[in-house]
Amino acid sequence: MVDRDVGAALAALEAHRVEIGHHTMAEFFAQDARRFERLSLRLGDMLFDYSKHRINDATLAHLLSLARAAKLEEKRAALFSGEAVNVSEHRPALHMALRNFSGRKVMVAGRDVMPDIFAMREKVYGFAKGIRSGAFRGATGKPFTDIVNIGIGGSDLGPAMAARALSPFAQKGLRLHFVSNVDGADLSDTLAGLDLATVLFIVSSKTFTTQETMTNAASARARLVAALGESAVGDHFAAVSTKLDLVERFGIRDDRVFGFWDWVGGRYSIWSSIGLALAIAIGPDNFDDFLRGGHEVDDHFTQAPLHENIPVIMGLLGIWYRNIWGFGTHAVIPYDQRLARFPAYLQQLDMESNGKSVRREGGPVKMSTAPVIWGEPGTNGQHAFFQMLHQGTDIVPVDFLVAAEPIDADAHHHRLLFSNCLAQAEALMRGRSRGDVDAMLAKSGMNADEAAQLAPHKVFAGNRPSSMILYRRLDPMMLGRLIALYEHKVFVQSAIWDINAFDQWGVELGKELASRLAPIVSDDKADLSALDASTAGLIDYRRKLLS
Ligand code: F6P
Repeated sequence: MVDRDVGAALAALEAHRVEIGHHTMAEFFAQDARRFERLSLRLGDMLFDYSKHRINDATLAHLLSLARAAKLEEKRAALFSGEAVNVSEHRPALHMALRNFSGRKVMVAGRDVMPDIFAMREKVYGFAKGIRSGAFRGATGKPFTDIVNIGIGGSDLGPAMAARALSPFAQKGLRLHFVSNVDGADLSDTLAGLDLATVLFIVSSKTFTTQETMTNAASARARLVAALGESAVGDHFAAVSTKLDLVERFGIRDDRVFGFWDWVGGRYSIWSSIGLALAIAIGPDNFDDFLRGGHEVDDHFTQAPLHENIPVIMGLLGIWYRNIWGFGTHAVIPYDQRLARFPAYLQQLDMESNGKSVRREGGPVKMSTAPVIWGEPGTNGQHAFFQMLHQGTDIVPVDFLVAAEPIDADAHHHRLLFSNCLAQAEALMRGRSRGDVDAMLAKSGMNADEAAQLAPHKVFAGNRPSSMILYRRLDPMMLGRLIALYEHKVFVQSAIWDINAFDQWGVELGKELASRLAPIVSDDKADLSALDASTAGLIDYRRKLLS
Protein backbone atom coordinates (compact mmCIF):
# COMPACT_ATOMS: atom_id res chain seq x y z
CA MET A 1 0.00 0.00 0.00
CA VAL A 2 2.71 2.45 1.08
CA ASP A 3 4.88 1.36 -1.87
CA ARG A 4 1.99 1.80 -4.27
CA ASP A 5 1.27 5.29 -2.92
CA VAL A 6 4.95 6.28 -3.05
CA GLY A 7 5.19 4.93 -6.60
CA ALA A 8 2.15 6.92 -7.63
CA ALA A 9 3.51 10.10 -6.01
CA LEU A 10 6.86 9.64 -7.78
CA ALA A 11 5.11 9.04 -11.10
CA ALA A 12 3.09 12.21 -10.60
CA LEU A 13 6.31 14.11 -9.91
CA GLU A 14 7.89 12.70 -13.10
CA ALA A 15 4.90 13.85 -15.14
CA HIS A 16 4.99 17.22 -13.42
CA ARG A 17 8.68 17.65 -14.28
CA VAL A 18 7.91 17.06 -17.94
CA GLU A 19 5.16 19.65 -17.67
CA ILE A 20 7.19 22.42 -16.03
CA GLY A 21 10.72 21.38 -17.03
CA HIS A 22 11.00 23.89 -19.86
CA HIS A 23 10.04 26.83 -17.63
CA THR A 24 12.77 28.74 -15.88
CA MET A 25 13.04 30.18 -12.41
CA ALA A 26 13.36 33.59 -14.03
CA GLU A 27 9.90 33.06 -15.54
CA PHE A 28 8.52 31.97 -12.18
CA PHE A 29 9.88 35.16 -10.57
CA ALA A 30 8.46 37.27 -13.38
CA GLN A 31 5.01 35.72 -12.91
CA ASP A 32 4.90 36.14 -9.14
CA ALA A 33 6.04 39.32 -7.42
CA ARG A 34 5.64 37.62 -4.05
CA ARG A 35 7.67 34.51 -4.86
CA PHE A 36 10.44 35.34 -2.39
CA GLU A 37 7.98 35.97 0.47
CA ARG A 38 6.01 32.86 -0.35
CA LEU A 39 9.02 30.59 -0.78
CA SER A 40 11.02 31.52 2.27
CA LEU A 41 10.66 30.41 5.87
CA ARG A 42 11.88 31.80 9.16
CA LEU A 43 13.12 30.18 12.34
CA GLY A 44 13.92 32.77 14.97
CA ASP A 45 16.08 35.30 13.16
CA MET A 46 17.20 32.76 10.55
CA LEU A 47 15.80 32.84 7.04
CA PHE A 48 15.60 29.89 4.67
CA ASP A 49 15.05 31.12 1.11
CA TYR A 50 14.06 28.41 -1.36
CA SER A 51 12.65 30.64 -4.06
CA LYS A 52 15.55 29.96 -6.45
CA HIS A 53 14.47 26.43 -7.27
CA ARG A 54 12.85 24.79 -10.26
CA ILE A 55 9.55 24.57 -8.46
CA ASN A 56 6.10 26.07 -8.42
CA ASP A 57 3.16 25.53 -6.08
CA ALA A 58 2.20 22.30 -7.82
CA THR A 59 5.73 20.93 -7.34
CA LEU A 60 5.49 21.52 -3.61
CA ALA A 61 2.07 19.92 -3.48
CA HIS A 62 3.40 16.85 -5.27
CA LEU A 63 6.45 16.63 -2.98
CA LEU A 64 4.26 16.91 0.11
CA SER A 65 2.02 14.14 -1.26
CA LEU A 66 5.13 12.01 -1.63
CA ALA A 67 6.09 12.74 1.99
CA ARG A 68 2.63 11.72 3.16
CA ALA A 69 2.64 8.61 0.98
CA ALA A 70 5.98 7.61 2.53
CA LYS A 71 4.45 8.12 6.01
CA LEU A 72 6.96 10.79 6.94
CA GLU A 73 4.90 12.06 9.85
CA GLU A 74 4.45 8.56 11.29
CA LYS A 75 8.17 7.84 10.90
CA ARG A 76 9.06 11.13 12.57
CA ALA A 77 6.76 10.25 15.47
CA ALA A 78 8.45 6.85 15.76
CA LEU A 79 11.87 8.51 15.82
CA PHE A 80 10.95 10.95 18.58
CA SER A 81 9.03 8.41 20.65
CA GLY A 82 12.12 6.22 21.02
CA GLU A 83 11.03 3.33 18.82
CA ALA A 84 13.89 1.11 17.65
CA VAL A 85 14.13 2.93 14.31
CA ASN A 86 17.67 1.63 13.87
CA VAL A 87 16.23 -1.73 12.89
CA SER A 88 19.47 -3.52 12.04
CA GLU A 89 20.94 -2.72 15.46
CA HIS A 90 17.63 -2.91 17.35
CA ARG A 91 17.89 0.46 19.00
CA PRO A 92 16.38 3.91 18.95
CA ALA A 93 18.12 7.03 17.62
CA LEU A 94 17.58 9.58 20.34
CA HIS A 95 20.30 12.19 20.01
CA MET A 96 17.49 14.75 20.34
CA ALA A 97 17.21 13.77 24.02
CA LEU A 98 20.69 15.23 24.58
CA ARG A 99 19.33 18.69 23.71
CA ASN A 100 15.90 18.25 25.25
CA PHE A 101 14.95 21.35 27.26
CA SER A 102 11.22 20.66 27.17
CA GLY A 103 11.05 19.12 30.63
CA ARG A 104 9.47 16.03 29.04
CA LYS A 105 10.71 12.53 29.78
CA VAL A 106 12.45 10.51 27.10
CA MET A 107 11.90 6.81 27.55
CA VAL A 108 14.31 4.11 26.45
CA ALA A 109 13.39 0.53 27.35
CA GLY A 110 10.80 1.80 29.84
CA ARG A 111 13.21 4.18 31.61
CA ASP A 112 13.45 7.97 31.47
CA VAL A 113 16.98 8.74 30.26
CA MET A 114 16.88 12.48 31.04
CA PRO A 115 18.30 12.21 34.61
CA ASP A 116 21.34 10.29 33.26
CA ILE A 117 21.81 12.90 30.54
CA PHE A 118 21.69 15.78 33.02
CA ALA A 119 24.10 14.03 35.40
CA MET A 120 26.62 13.31 32.63
CA ARG A 121 26.35 16.85 31.32
CA GLU A 122 27.07 18.19 34.82
CA LYS A 123 30.15 15.96 34.97
CA VAL A 124 31.32 17.31 31.59
CA TYR A 125 30.69 20.90 32.68
CA GLY A 126 32.47 20.38 36.00
CA PHE A 127 35.54 19.05 34.22
CA ALA A 128 35.37 21.84 31.60
CA LYS A 129 35.28 24.46 34.34
CA GLY A 130 38.22 22.85 36.13
CA ILE A 131 40.35 22.91 32.98
CA ARG A 132 39.29 26.44 32.03
CA SER A 133 40.00 27.87 35.47
CA GLY A 134 43.31 26.08 35.84
CA ALA A 135 42.05 24.19 38.91
CA PHE A 136 42.81 20.92 37.08
CA ARG A 137 46.46 20.85 36.09
CA GLY A 138 49.00 18.54 34.54
CA ALA A 139 51.37 16.27 36.46
CA THR A 140 54.01 18.97 36.86
CA GLY A 141 51.51 21.48 38.25
CA LYS A 142 51.23 23.59 35.11
CA PRO A 143 47.76 24.52 33.78
CA PHE A 144 46.71 22.99 30.47
CA THR A 145 47.22 25.12 27.37
CA ASP A 146 46.49 22.53 24.66
CA ILE A 147 43.68 20.01 24.36
CA VAL A 148 44.26 17.18 21.87
CA ASN A 149 41.09 15.29 20.91
CA ILE A 150 41.92 11.84 19.54
CA GLY A 151 38.99 10.37 17.62
CA ILE A 152 37.71 9.79 14.10
CA GLY A 153 34.43 10.06 12.19
CA GLY A 154 31.70 11.31 14.49
CA SER A 155 34.17 11.39 17.37
CA ASP A 156 36.26 13.94 15.49
CA LEU A 157 34.30 15.76 12.79
CA GLY A 158 31.64 17.18 15.11
CA PRO A 159 33.93 18.66 17.77
CA ALA A 160 36.55 19.72 15.19
CA MET A 161 33.98 21.44 12.98
CA ALA A 162 32.22 23.11 15.92
CA ALA A 163 35.43 24.21 17.63
CA ARG A 164 36.44 26.05 14.47
CA ALA A 165 32.97 27.48 13.92
CA LEU A 166 32.79 28.86 17.45
CA SER A 167 36.40 29.93 17.87
CA PRO A 168 35.46 33.50 18.84
CA PHE A 169 33.64 32.05 21.86
CA ALA A 170 36.60 29.94 23.00
CA GLN A 171 38.70 30.74 26.04
CA LYS A 172 41.87 32.56 25.02
CA GLY A 173 45.07 30.71 25.74
CA LEU A 174 43.45 27.29 25.42
CA ARG A 175 44.17 25.72 22.04
CA LEU A 176 42.24 22.79 20.60
CA HIS A 177 43.78 20.18 18.29
CA PHE A 178 42.23 17.19 16.58
CA VAL A 179 44.09 14.01 15.67
CA SER A 180 42.15 11.49 13.63
CA ASN A 181 44.16 9.79 10.90
CA VAL A 182 46.06 6.58 11.61
CA ASP A 183 48.79 8.20 9.48
CA GLY A 184 51.38 8.88 12.19
CA ALA A 185 52.04 12.26 10.62
CA ASP A 186 48.76 13.49 12.10
CA LEU A 187 49.81 12.89 15.70
CA SER A 188 53.45 13.89 15.15
CA ASP A 189 52.63 17.12 13.37
CA THR A 190 50.06 18.01 16.01
CA LEU A 191 52.39 17.40 18.93
CA ALA A 192 55.40 19.06 17.30
CA GLY A 193 56.17 22.14 19.31
CA LEU A 194 53.72 21.34 22.13
CA ASP A 195 54.93 20.98 25.71
CA LEU A 196 53.44 17.67 26.89
CA ALA A 197 53.40 19.01 30.45
CA THR A 198 50.55 21.31 29.39
CA VAL A 199 48.68 18.94 27.04
CA LEU A 200 45.42 17.20 27.91
CA PHE A 201 44.52 14.25 25.66
CA ILE A 202 40.86 13.34 25.22
CA VAL A 203 40.38 9.89 23.71
CA SER A 204 36.97 10.01 22.05
CA SER A 205 35.52 6.78 20.75
CA LYS A 206 32.02 5.43 21.08
CA THR A 207 33.24 1.84 20.77
CA PHE A 208 36.78 2.33 22.13
CA THR A 209 37.95 -0.23 19.57
CA THR A 210 38.41 1.91 16.44
CA GLN A 211 41.83 1.10 15.02
CA GLU A 212 42.83 4.68 14.20
CA THR A 213 41.84 6.08 17.57
CA MET A 214 43.30 3.28 19.66
CA THR A 215 46.58 3.41 17.71
CA ASN A 216 46.85 7.18 18.13
CA ALA A 217 45.86 6.96 21.81
CA ALA A 218 48.51 4.30 22.49
CA SER A 219 51.19 6.37 20.75
CA ALA A 220 50.16 9.54 22.58
CA ARG A 221 50.28 7.63 25.86
CA ALA A 222 53.74 6.28 25.06
CA ARG A 223 55.01 9.77 24.26
CA LEU A 224 53.58 11.15 27.48
CA VAL A 225 55.07 8.33 29.55
CA ALA A 226 58.46 8.88 27.88
CA ALA A 227 58.32 12.58 28.71
CA LEU A 228 56.68 12.66 32.14
CA GLY A 229 56.52 9.05 33.40
CA GLU A 230 53.72 6.51 33.84
CA SER A 231 52.24 8.34 36.81
CA ALA A 232 51.38 11.33 34.58
CA VAL A 233 48.80 9.38 32.54
CA GLY A 234 46.02 9.92 35.09
CA ASP A 235 46.41 13.70 34.96
CA HIS A 236 46.84 14.03 31.22
CA PHE A 237 44.20 11.70 29.78
CA ALA A 238 40.42 11.85 29.68
CA ALA A 239 38.11 9.60 27.68
CA VAL A 240 34.65 9.74 26.14
CA SER A 241 33.00 6.44 25.29
CA THR A 242 30.04 4.13 25.75
CA LYS A 243 32.39 1.24 26.61
CA LEU A 244 33.48 2.07 30.12
CA ASP A 245 35.12 -1.34 30.74
CA LEU A 246 37.48 -0.81 27.80
CA VAL A 247 38.31 2.71 28.97
CA GLU A 248 39.19 1.35 32.40
CA ARG A 249 41.61 -1.13 30.84
CA PHE A 250 43.36 1.77 29.08
CA GLY A 251 44.02 3.22 32.54
CA ILE A 252 42.01 6.42 32.52
CA ARG A 253 40.82 7.69 35.89
CA ASP A 254 37.12 7.32 36.67
CA ASP A 255 36.57 11.01 37.24
CA ARG A 256 37.97 11.69 33.76
CA VAL A 257 35.72 9.24 31.95
CA PHE A 258 32.59 10.60 30.29
CA GLY A 259 30.00 8.17 29.06
CA PHE A 260 27.17 8.26 26.59
CA TRP A 261 24.72 5.72 25.24
CA ASP A 262 24.38 3.30 22.35
CA TRP A 263 21.23 5.09 21.17
CA VAL A 264 23.43 8.04 20.16
CA GLY A 265 24.88 7.40 16.69
CA GLY A 266 28.52 8.41 16.17
CA ARG A 267 27.66 11.05 13.56
CA TYR A 268 24.94 12.42 15.86
CA SER A 269 27.11 12.51 18.98
CA ILE A 270 28.40 16.10 19.11
CA TRP A 271 25.53 16.85 21.52
CA SER A 272 26.80 14.23 23.99
CA SER A 273 30.04 13.97 26.00
CA ILE A 274 31.75 13.74 22.60
CA GLY A 275 31.37 17.53 22.73
CA LEU A 276 33.79 17.60 25.72
CA ALA A 277 36.61 19.39 23.87
CA LEU A 278 34.09 21.94 22.59
CA ALA A 279 32.57 22.39 26.05
CA ILE A 280 36.04 23.04 27.48
CA ALA A 281 36.76 25.60 24.78
CA ILE A 282 33.50 27.57 24.82
CA GLY A 283 32.36 26.86 28.39
CA PRO A 284 29.09 25.49 29.78
CA ASP A 285 26.90 28.52 29.07
CA ASN A 286 27.80 28.62 25.39
CA PHE A 287 27.52 24.83 25.14
CA ASP A 288 24.02 25.11 26.62
CA ASP A 289 23.14 27.67 23.93
CA PHE A 290 24.45 25.29 21.29
CA LEU A 291 22.16 22.55 22.64
CA ARG A 292 19.24 24.99 22.77
CA GLY A 293 19.71 25.78 19.08
CA GLY A 294 19.36 22.08 18.30
CA HIS A 295 16.31 21.80 20.55
CA GLU A 296 14.63 24.74 18.84
CA VAL A 297 14.92 22.89 15.52
CA ASP A 298 13.51 19.70 17.08
CA ASP A 299 10.45 21.69 18.16
CA HIS A 300 10.14 23.20 14.71
CA PHE A 301 10.57 19.84 12.96
CA THR A 302 7.97 18.13 15.14
CA GLN A 303 5.45 20.97 15.27
CA ALA A 304 5.54 23.04 12.06
CA PRO A 305 3.14 21.88 9.34
CA LEU A 306 4.97 20.04 6.57
CA HIS A 307 4.68 22.93 4.09
CA GLU A 308 6.29 25.34 6.59
CA ASN A 309 8.84 22.89 7.93
CA ILE A 310 12.40 23.82 6.95
CA PRO A 311 14.06 20.38 7.21
CA VAL A 312 11.08 18.85 5.42
CA ILE A 313 11.38 21.33 2.55
CA MET A 314 15.18 20.89 2.45
CA GLY A 315 14.78 17.11 2.30
CA LEU A 316 12.05 17.18 -0.34
CA LEU A 317 13.98 19.56 -2.59
CA GLY A 318 16.84 17.07 -2.40
CA ILE A 319 14.48 14.27 -3.44
CA TRP A 320 13.16 16.39 -6.35
CA TYR A 321 16.65 16.85 -7.74
CA ARG A 322 18.09 13.44 -6.89
CA ASN A 323 15.19 11.23 -7.91
CA ILE A 324 13.23 13.23 -10.45
CA TRP A 325 15.94 15.26 -12.19
CA GLY A 326 18.74 12.73 -11.60
CA PHE A 327 21.30 15.19 -10.20
CA GLY A 328 24.05 13.21 -8.47
CA THR A 329 25.72 15.74 -6.20
CA HIS A 330 24.78 18.51 -3.81
CA ALA A 331 27.10 21.33 -2.77
CA VAL A 332 27.08 23.12 0.56
CA ILE A 333 28.96 26.41 0.33
CA PRO A 334 29.29 28.37 3.57
CA TYR A 335 30.22 32.01 3.02
CA ASP A 336 31.59 31.77 6.51
CA GLN A 337 35.23 30.79 6.83
CA ARG A 338 34.69 29.37 10.30
CA LEU A 339 32.31 26.81 8.77
CA ALA A 340 35.18 25.47 6.66
CA ARG A 341 34.75 21.97 8.10
CA PHE A 342 30.95 21.98 7.85
CA PRO A 343 30.82 20.32 4.40
CA ALA A 344 33.13 17.54 5.65
CA TYR A 345 30.92 17.13 8.72
CA LEU A 346 27.85 16.90 6.46
CA GLN A 347 29.54 14.32 4.27
CA GLN A 348 29.54 11.89 7.18
CA LEU A 349 26.10 12.94 8.40
CA ASP A 350 24.46 12.57 5.01
CA MET A 351 26.45 9.92 3.17
CA GLU A 352 27.03 7.57 6.11
CA SER A 353 23.35 7.88 7.02
CA ASN A 354 21.76 7.60 3.60
CA GLY A 355 24.39 5.95 1.41
CA LYS A 356 22.44 2.68 1.41
CA SER A 357 21.01 0.30 -1.19
CA VAL A 358 18.64 -1.73 0.96
CA ARG A 359 15.41 -0.74 2.59
CA ARG A 360 14.69 -1.09 6.27
CA GLU A 361 13.23 -4.57 5.86
CA GLY A 362 16.15 -5.71 3.66
CA GLY A 363 14.76 -5.45 0.12
CA PRO A 364 16.53 -3.34 -2.53
CA VAL A 365 15.91 0.39 -2.77
CA LYS A 366 14.58 1.09 -6.22
CA MET A 367 15.59 4.77 -6.27
CA SER A 368 18.87 6.63 -6.07
CA THR A 369 19.78 7.48 -2.47
CA ALA A 370 22.35 9.86 -0.94
CA PRO A 371 23.90 12.26 -3.43
CA VAL A 372 27.58 13.14 -3.13
CA ILE A 373 27.77 16.00 -0.64
CA TRP A 374 30.66 18.35 -1.09
CA GLY A 375 31.73 21.94 -0.66
CA GLU A 376 34.26 24.50 0.45
CA PRO A 377 33.82 27.98 1.83
CA GLY A 378 33.07 30.89 -0.46
CA THR A 379 34.61 33.00 -1.76
CA ASN A 380 37.47 30.50 -2.20
CA GLY A 381 35.29 28.04 -4.09
CA GLN A 382 34.54 30.73 -6.66
CA HIS A 383 38.17 30.59 -7.74
CA ALA A 384 38.24 26.79 -7.88
CA PHE A 385 35.11 24.88 -8.87
CA PHE A 386 32.42 27.49 -9.48
CA GLN A 387 33.25 27.44 -13.19
CA MET A 388 31.72 23.96 -13.28
CA LEU A 389 28.70 25.06 -11.22
CA HIS A 390 27.96 27.83 -13.73
CA GLN A 391 28.83 26.27 -17.06
CA GLY A 392 29.47 22.54 -16.51
CA THR A 393 27.25 19.89 -18.07
CA ASP A 394 26.04 18.63 -14.68
CA ILE A 395 23.64 20.61 -12.54
CA VAL A 396 24.60 20.87 -8.87
CA PRO A 397 22.00 22.19 -6.45
CA VAL A 398 23.71 24.42 -3.88
CA ASP A 399 23.03 25.42 -0.28
CA PHE A 400 24.54 28.82 0.48
CA LEU A 401 25.07 29.68 4.15
CA VAL A 402 25.84 33.23 5.20
CA ALA A 403 25.67 35.49 8.26
CA ALA A 404 24.23 39.01 8.27
CA GLU A 405 27.10 40.24 10.44
CA PRO A 406 30.59 39.03 11.27
CA ILE A 407 31.92 38.11 14.68
CA ASP A 408 35.36 39.51 15.41
CA ALA A 409 35.93 40.34 11.76
CA ASP A 410 36.06 43.45 9.62
CA ALA A 411 32.65 44.79 8.51
CA HIS A 412 33.97 45.89 5.12
CA HIS A 413 35.28 42.38 4.41
CA HIS A 414 31.96 40.98 5.45
CA ARG A 415 29.99 43.22 3.10
CA LEU A 416 32.14 41.95 0.23
CA LEU A 417 31.67 38.36 1.40
CA PHE A 418 27.91 38.80 1.61
CA SER A 419 27.71 40.46 -1.82
CA ASN A 420 29.68 37.62 -3.38
CA CYS A 421 27.36 35.04 -1.85
CA LEU A 422 24.25 36.75 -3.19
CA ALA A 423 25.89 37.34 -6.57
CA GLN A 424 26.72 33.67 -7.04
CA ALA A 425 23.18 32.55 -6.25
CA GLU A 426 21.82 35.23 -8.58
CA ALA A 427 24.22 34.28 -11.38
CA LEU A 428 23.33 30.59 -11.07
CA MET A 429 19.66 31.46 -11.32
CA ARG A 430 19.74 34.15 -14.06
CA GLY A 431 22.57 33.01 -16.24
CA ARG A 432 23.47 35.11 -19.29
CA SER A 433 21.71 34.61 -22.60
CA ARG A 434 23.29 34.55 -26.05
CA GLY A 435 21.39 37.73 -26.89
CA ASP A 436 22.90 39.55 -23.89
CA VAL A 437 26.37 38.29 -24.74
CA ASP A 438 26.04 39.40 -28.38
CA ALA A 439 24.89 42.85 -27.28
CA MET A 440 27.76 43.14 -24.78
CA LEU A 441 30.38 42.16 -27.32
CA ALA A 442 28.95 44.49 -29.97
CA LYS A 443 29.02 47.33 -27.45
CA SER A 444 32.63 46.59 -26.63
CA GLY A 445 33.53 47.24 -30.27
CA MET A 446 34.73 43.70 -30.99
CA ASN A 447 34.59 42.78 -34.67
CA ALA A 448 31.68 40.56 -35.67
CA ASP A 449 33.72 37.44 -36.53
CA GLU A 450 35.64 37.49 -33.29
CA ALA A 451 32.43 38.17 -31.32
CA ALA A 452 30.67 35.22 -32.97
CA GLN A 453 33.61 32.97 -32.01
CA LEU A 454 33.70 34.14 -28.43
CA ALA A 455 30.00 34.44 -27.67
CA PRO A 456 29.17 30.76 -26.97
CA HIS A 457 31.92 30.63 -24.35
CA LYS A 458 30.38 33.53 -22.48
CA VAL A 459 26.84 32.16 -22.32
CA PHE A 460 25.58 30.91 -18.94
CA ALA A 461 22.52 28.67 -19.18
CA GLY A 462 21.33 29.76 -15.72
CA ASN A 463 18.24 28.20 -14.11
CA ARG A 464 20.59 26.44 -11.66
CA PRO A 465 19.01 25.89 -8.25
CA SER A 466 20.17 27.06 -4.85
CA SER A 467 18.85 27.63 -1.32
CA MET A 468 20.07 30.38 0.98
CA ILE A 469 20.33 30.08 4.75
CA LEU A 470 20.81 33.59 6.12
CA TYR A 471 21.38 34.03 9.86
CA ARG A 472 22.28 36.97 12.06
CA ARG A 473 25.67 35.61 13.16
CA LEU A 474 27.40 32.32 13.71
CA ASP A 475 26.98 31.95 17.46
CA PRO A 476 26.54 28.72 19.47
CA MET A 477 22.76 28.76 19.15
CA MET A 478 22.93 29.20 15.37
CA LEU A 479 25.45 26.41 14.96
CA GLY A 480 23.14 24.14 16.97
CA ARG A 481 20.27 25.07 14.67
CA LEU A 482 22.29 24.43 11.53
CA ILE A 483 23.43 20.97 12.57
CA ALA A 484 19.95 19.90 13.68
CA LEU A 485 18.41 21.24 10.46
CA TYR A 486 20.68 19.01 8.40
CA GLU A 487 20.19 16.04 10.73
CA HIS A 488 16.45 16.21 10.17
CA LYS A 489 16.83 16.87 6.46
CA VAL A 490 18.77 13.61 6.24
CA PHE A 491 16.05 11.86 8.24
CA VAL A 492 13.32 13.17 5.92
CA GLN A 493 15.13 11.73 2.91
CA SER A 494 15.69 8.41 4.65
CA ALA A 495 11.95 8.27 5.30
CA ILE A 496 11.15 8.77 1.62
CA TRP A 497 13.70 6.15 0.57
CA ASP A 498 12.57 3.89 3.45
CA ILE A 499 16.12 3.25 4.58
CA ASN A 500 17.69 3.04 8.03
CA ALA A 501 19.66 6.27 8.46
CA PHE A 502 21.25 5.11 11.70
CA ASP A 503 23.49 2.14 10.87
CA GLN A 504 26.70 2.06 8.78
CA TRP A 505 27.46 -1.52 7.78
CA GLY A 506 29.15 -0.23 4.64
CA VAL A 507 32.28 0.73 6.56
CA GLU A 508 32.79 -2.77 7.98
CA LEU A 509 34.26 -4.68 5.04
CA GLY A 510 37.15 -2.25 4.56
CA LYS A 511 37.87 -2.37 8.31
CA GLU A 512 37.93 -6.18 8.29
CA LEU A 513 40.20 -6.38 5.28
CA ALA A 514 42.59 -3.80 6.76
CA SER A 515 42.88 -5.89 9.94
CA ARG A 516 43.57 -8.99 7.82
CA LEU A 517 46.22 -7.21 5.75
CA ALA A 518 48.02 -5.46 8.64
CA PRO A 519 50.02 -8.54 9.76
CA ILE A 520 50.81 -9.41 6.12
CA VAL A 521 52.10 -5.90 5.44
CA SER A 522 54.17 -6.05 8.64
CA ASP A 523 55.86 -9.35 7.72
CA ASP A 524 58.18 -9.24 4.71
CA LYS A 525 58.06 -13.01 4.42
CA ALA A 526 54.27 -13.43 4.66
CA ASP A 527 52.70 -15.62 1.98
CA LEU A 528 50.74 -13.54 -0.55
CA SER A 529 49.27 -16.42 -2.54
CA ALA A 530 45.82 -16.23 -0.92
CA LEU A 531 45.40 -12.58 -1.94
CA ASP A 532 43.97 -11.33 -5.20
CA ALA A 533 46.63 -10.61 -7.83
CA SER A 534 46.37 -6.84 -7.57
CA THR A 535 46.61 -6.68 -3.77
CA ALA A 536 49.49 -9.19 -3.79
CA GLY A 537 51.26 -7.27 -6.57
CA LEU A 538 51.01 -4.00 -4.69
CA ILE A 539 52.40 -5.49 -1.47
CA ASP A 540 55.19 -7.12 -3.44
CA TYR A 541 56.05 -3.85 -5.18
CA ARG A 542 56.23 -2.08 -1.81
CA ARG A 543 58.55 -4.79 -0.50
CA LYS A 544 60.84 -4.18 -3.47
CA LEU A 545 60.78 -0.41 -2.93
CA LEU A 546 61.78 -0.89 0.70
CA SER A 547 64.38 -3.64 0.20
O1 F6P B 1 33.32 5.08 10.20
C1 F6P B 1 32.52 4.26 10.97
C2 F6P B 1 32.34 4.77 12.37
O2 F6P B 1 31.73 3.77 13.09
C3 F6P B 1 31.52 6.06 12.45
O3 F6P B 1 30.16 5.85 12.37
C4 F6P B 1 31.97 6.60 13.75
O4 F6P B 1 31.62 7.94 13.90
C5 F6P B 1 33.46 6.37 13.64
O5 F6P B 1 33.57 5.11 12.99
C6 F6P B 1 34.21 6.36 14.93
O6 F6P B 1 33.75 5.37 15.79
P1 F6P B 1 34.10 5.37 17.32
O7 F6P B 1 33.55 6.62 17.92
O8 F6P B 1 33.48 4.14 17.88
O9 F6P B 1 35.61 5.34 17.45
